[in-house]
Amino acid sequence: MSPSSQMQPGPEPAVKKSLLVVEHLTMRFGGLIAINDISFVAADREITAIIGPNGAGKTTVFNCLTGFYEPTIGRLTLNHPQRGRFMLERMEGHLIPAQAGVARTFQNIRLFGAMSVLENLIVAQHNTLMRASGFSFAGLIGLPRYSRAEARAVERARYWLDRVNLTARADDPAASLPYGDQRRLEIARAMCIEPALLCLDEPAAGLNPRESADLNRLLLDIRNEHGIGLLLIEHDMTVVMGISDHIVVLDYGRLIADGTPEEIRSNPAVVRAYLGEEEDEDLPEEVAHDIDVKREDD
Ligand SMILES: Nc1ncnc2c1ncn2[C@@H]1O[C@H](COP(=O)(O)OP(=O)(O)OP(=O)(O)O)[C@@H](O)[C@H]1O
Ligand SMILES: [Mg+2]
Repeated sequence: MSPSSQMQPGPEPAVKKSLLVVEHLTMRFGGLIAINDISFVAADREITAIIGPNGAGKTTVFNCLTGFYEPTIGRLTLNHPQRGRFMLERMEGHLIPAQAGVARTFQNIRLFGAMSVLENLIVAQHNTLMRASGFSFAGLIGLPRYSRAEARAVERARYWLDRVNLTARADDPAASLPYGDQRRLEIARAMCIEPALLCLDEPAAGLNPRESADLNRLLLDIRNEHGIGLLLIEHDMTVVMGISDHIVVLDYGRLIADGTPEEIRSNPAVVRAYLGEEEDEDLPEEVAHDIDVKREDD
């Protein structure tokens, strides 16, 4: 159910809950400023897209959120609906998924290729299983708490295998899957940790139009059925415009626009940012049209 369809008439106005608050995020690599003082909010139960030309700083935002990089400046606050507030920039990277509930997929797929599809999903739940074992050998070999956690981990893995239509491939090595299946397996793996925020780095890259349409449905289902927030980096504008509730646009490390898909489509700064691109066929028709009009004016 979308947030708007959940609204009931009543005295309380529906207020969007902020799930992720990014404030003045800056990331420098030596003399290069990859991210330059960007601030935005991603609401709970919404799909927030981060778009922008190559090198704009999109993946760097994810790397800061998930502890791969320590931001040079800035605050990254995750308001977990059940667990409270986490200052992500102060957390150890390996604790961010399990504690703050931030899961991600990678621009270049990172699966354990030699492990089976199912094993990839069990390994993802390693932290939960280790907690259940009390971090002891005895816990691993016998305690009922661990067995129950293990059974739940397998159950979750089976559930997500089914959701991404990979049950028939459960025992095959992950590396043997076609590219589109590997992308869906990565999403399943991220969902196995039951995140509050799912960060997807170009999930539609390399997918054919049918796979891309399936992906749109999967992401909308994840938002609607699991009630979590999604951050989506994507170049495919049919995906972005088709499923996003909110779009943030970066260019050369700066935030140049922030709004609804309708607002972004007609934003002149966004059109300008994309004019530098060699190809504009991925742009929404409206943006491509605006560019054509501008070219005729020139
Ligand atoms: N570890 C690093 N060391 C040095 N420079 C880096 C590092 N990571 C990213 N950069 C630089 O930061 C800038 C932003 O890179 P980033 O990967 O975030 O862009 P992007 O928007 O994800 O681009 P693309 O659409 O091509 O994936 C680029 O100039 C890149 O070369
Ligand atoms: Mg990138």
